[in-house]
Amino acid sequence: MNFSKKRFYTIAHRGASWYYPENTMSAFKAAVDMNADMIELDVLLSKDNIPVVFHDERLDKKTNGSGFVLDHTLSDLKKLDVGSWFDTKFKNEGIPTLREVLEFSRNRILVNIEIKPEVVTENEESGIVELVLNLVEELGMEEVVMISSFDYRVLERLSKRETNIKSALLYERVQSHGREPSRLAKDYNIDAFNCSREQLTDNWVLQLNNNKIPFFIYTVNDELTMKSLIQVGAKGIFTDKPDVLNKVVEEVIKNAV
Ligand code: G3P
Ligand code: CA
Repeated sequence: MNFSKKRFYTIAHRGASWYYPENTMSAFKAAVDMNADMIELDVLLSKDNIPVVFHDERLDKKTNGSGFVLDHTLSDLKKLDVGSWFDTKFKNEGIPTLREVLEFSRNRILVNIEIKPEVVTENEESGIVELVLNLVEELGMEEVVMISSFDYRVLERLSKRETNIKSALLYERVQSHGREPSRLAKDYNIDAFNCSREQLTDNWVLQLNNNKIPFFIYTVNDELTMKSLIQVGAKGIFTDKPDVLNKVVEEVIKNAV
């Protein structure tokens, strides 16, 4: 993935999650149908160390199961209904593995894999970072994947390892110790800086643009905010409504010529 290739990226946050249950195959398929440039997904580990696509540490809120994801084997997780909390018509929707989503995405759409802090351990060899990297490399998808995390240890490991996979830092105040985005970009050797709309300041925008650091902002579903972020130079926006963002992008481009 070459960030300079495209002016702007529409990123489907957990898939087209305004219309479909988040982090499901339906949500990712819809993102492709809506012509998003990239899907964003969250990765945790099952008890038997399989990277699975799910946001919450616990199953209780968004499945018919309970407890921590990490305490369930993949075969147990596969029995769960991850769609009914959203709408009973999605009751057959299950938790996908990262492999399943990557295989679906290959030659269709770029992928932002967010590694959740809860599963990052001190054991680098068998940890989630290695498992994810190995999988991406096995599938030959290094050029179409961006890995991000709120856990800066993930970024340290990525920068130490020989890989073409792009990395993005998800801004986290405590680990930042007052460092500005341009300092963080140097310290962690990242390809992009990601933060929420609420965290982004005018000063950061200036600094990121001056230092040519691509920045991606989450999670924006209203058209006015989308428009203003495109105009100040965001390289991409995470949205639950990729169809709406694509429409806004077209309008902004049309008005710019
Ligand atoms: O990567 C952007 C965004 O997904 C981070 O927050 O909680 O939606 O995973 P969250
Ligand atoms: Ca996420």
